[in-house]
Amino acid sequence: MKHLVVLTGAGISAESGIKTFRDSDGLWEKYDVNQVASIEGWHENKALMLDFYNQRRKQVQKAQPNEAHRILAELEKYFKVSIITQNIDSLHEKAGSTNVLHLHGEITKACNEDKTQVIEIGDKEINVGDKAPDGSQLRPFIVWFGEQVPLLNEAIETVRSADILLVVGTSLNVQPAASLLNVVANDVPVFLIDPSPKVTYRKVTVIQAKASEGMEMFRNFFLNGKRLPAYDYQQAEETDNILLACNKAIEIEPDNPDNWIQKSQRLGELQRYDEAMICQDEAMKLLKNGIMPFSLE
Ligand SMILES: NC(=O)c1ccc[n+]([C@@H]2O[C@H](COP(=O)([O-])OP(=O)(O)OC[C@H]3O[C@@H](n4cnc5c(N)ncnc54)[C@H](O)[C@@H]3O)[C@@H](O)[C@H]2O)c1
Repeated sequence: MKHLVVLTGAGISAESGIKTFRDSDGLWEKYDVNQVASIEGWHENKALMLDFYNQRRKQVQKAQPNEAHRILAELEKYFKVSIITQNIDSLHEKAGSTNVLHLHGEITKACNEDKTQVIEIGDKEINVGDKAPDGSQLRPFIVWFGEQVPLLNEAIETVRSADILLVVGTSLNVQPAASLLNVVANDVPVFLIDPSPKVTYRKVTVIQAKASEGMEMFRNFFLNGKRLPAYDYQQAEETDNILLACNKAIEIEPDNPDNWIQKSQRLGELQRYDEAMICQDEAMKLLKNGIMPFSLE
């Protein structure tokens, strides 16, 4: 059996009703990412962190796997499947996948302060004053920014042994998870499923679709020989270049919002609405009078 290694991110759980990390301007469920996802945040305000993860735990318990999780579980009939997920939810397991490595921890587990004692807690809350067996404050078993990623070496070895690498629903913004793409052997085909893909170099076969639809295409491609829809790499490259120019403009020409509006118009024409909105937001912050350069209708 061929070894299919799958790297998943928050996007695969979006259709199960769990928001992605950067859905709205670097906020995770309306919280500042640094406040709720860094070790500094933990030292600053344990109550806020615990409350945030108590809410996430409840949300995850209610969520059901979607078609993308289910197809991945089904593919175990045809491939040796290894899933490396950045997700802290348990939707891959709920769908029936048997080989899942959680690079950033699991919401249904708690641990002591130095992470040597791990306890299964299911949907129970953790509150300030709850103690781990060693007497330290109990905390969520999550890898926060500023912490080591203990399973990274195992993930690297898994990616190195891939015959096929599939990436689903990750912005590839969070390191070291993103660097896993660099360790895959040169002759291994790499597929990316994402409605707003950021990787445009040609070695990656991009399936621009939501996870469930994209997974169905991936399955049909491998099992039924059905062709994948063409992806316009040139357009994607143009989008990336505009974004790059946009970021530069923010640094170099902060007084020239017209420039950004033009860029956001072009992004709109390319149907890259998320990116267009970012450009537009930046321009509007400068203009302060709320010009809408194009309609999103
Ligand atoms: N479900 C979860 O467990 C969960 C949710 C939010 C954040 N996180 C944490 O946040 C970090 C975020 O990094 P990340 O790269 O995984 O997420 P991210 O939010 O940075 O990126 C999400 C990606 O998913 C794509 N996407 C959005 N909707 C999609 C859909 N329906 N189908 C497929 N793709 C879709 C977006 O275009 C984007 O590229 C991880 O460390 C993770 O632990 C986890």
